[in-house]
Amino acid sequence: YEIYLNGMTGAVPRLPTDLTRLEEVAEQRLGPGPVGYVAGSAGSGRTAEANRKALDRWQIVPRMLRDVQRRDLSVELLGARLPAPLALAPVGVLSIMHPDAEPAAARAAAAQGVPFVLSSASSTPMEEVAEAMGEAERWFQLYWPKDREVTKSLLGRAKAAGYTALFVTLDTWLLAWRPRDLDQAYLPFLHGVGTANYFTDPAFQAGLAKPVHEDRDAAVLHFVRMFADPAKTWDDLAFLREHWDGPIVLKGILHPDDARRAADAGMDGIVVSNHGGRQVNGSIGAADALPGVVRAVGDRLTVLFDSGIRTGDDIFKALALGARGVLLGRPYAYGLGLDGQPGVEHVIRSVLAEFDLTLALSGHTAPGQLTPDALTRANA
Ligand code: FNR
Repeated sequence: YEIYLNGMTGAVPRLPTDLTRLEEVAEQRLGPGPVGYVAGSAGSGRTAEANRKALDRWQIVPRMLRDVQRRDLSVELLGARLPAPLALAPVGVLSIMHPDAEPAAARAAAAQGVPFVLSSASSTPMEEVAEAMGEAERWFQLYWPKDREVTKSLLGRAKAAGYTALFVTLDTWLLAWRPRDLDQAYLPFLHGVGTANYFTDPAFQAGLAKPVHEDRDAAVLHFVRMFADPAKTWDDLAFLREHWDGPIVLKGILHPDDARRAADAGMDGIVVSNHGGRQVNGSIGAADALPGVVRAVGDRLTVLFDSGIRTGDDIFKALALGARGVLLGRPYAYGLGLDGQPGVEHVIRSVLAEFDLTLALSGHTAPGQLTPDALTRANA
């Protein structure tokens, strides 16, 4: 109603309220460079398409006359009470989109009480972002480095800075074949962007012959070598458990057997995700993987979902399929690029308002009421 009331004075929103149009507007206003980084998918983009198709194949079947006057969107996730089943996904190197970068996204999320999962590949050190997060829940995403000392040091810093849950991304030991970045021959890390957490890290610095400011190229190469470790296996999770005493969430699970292994390893949660279609071109649409994973482990750990969420009804569908919460990726990165902190707030508020209305108009008053019964498979 705020938007309609403002409209009485002639004011209309600065950004589209249909979040599926943000990419188009960003492309016009920000140009192909930054938008290529965010929009880009692996290979021919099949998986990013599959993410959308997988959500679109489901349709909501609204129910009537069920008193939906009072609604409560809040949920308990990973030991925290949240105002809604939504968090901002970790997106690295946000300075590409806007000079205010991660602190602006963090402030926007905090203003709505929504957790911002800070990428370990952020362009701002985690301590600075933690301050911007204020009272909001602080979650940290780890690209798990080869070097144990650096891993321990990053985890120690995250703990000291007040981050509670650790999201460990499993699908990015190598960067996929991403044509939009390849065609521009642009990898932010090679320009020393997105390395802030490492360049400020004592354990990382200890591996350098000269300080970062004296030989940046050597520091960047050191980062590229130790940033991820494709040799890791399930056995290595014990090391993380030993060095992180809060909830651990494995991000990038698609197979029910992997979900079972995560539960067997004592993990607290998983994110069913294909990294927004940025890693394995041709892989399963994330929402197609969700029901099988929920059947396998839904009662053993917290199942979260991302990849393809654009609207409130997408959130509804993911929850009805058994996710306990969702992460939003590209839309808030476009919001940031287009309008800084207010742009991210616009995205969060729009998607949550739409989710609230979808919930109510289809006969529900709380996320916990959603079950597969609220959906039907489209015929097309
Ligand atoms: C990502 N994603 C990501 N994931 C992660 O664990 N660490 C990271 O640093 C990044 N960086 C990143 C950059 C950009 C530009 C994008 C678009 C995505 C993946 C992200 O967390 C999430 O899984 C997807 O973005 C979800 O899909 P949608 O919502 O973008 O479709």
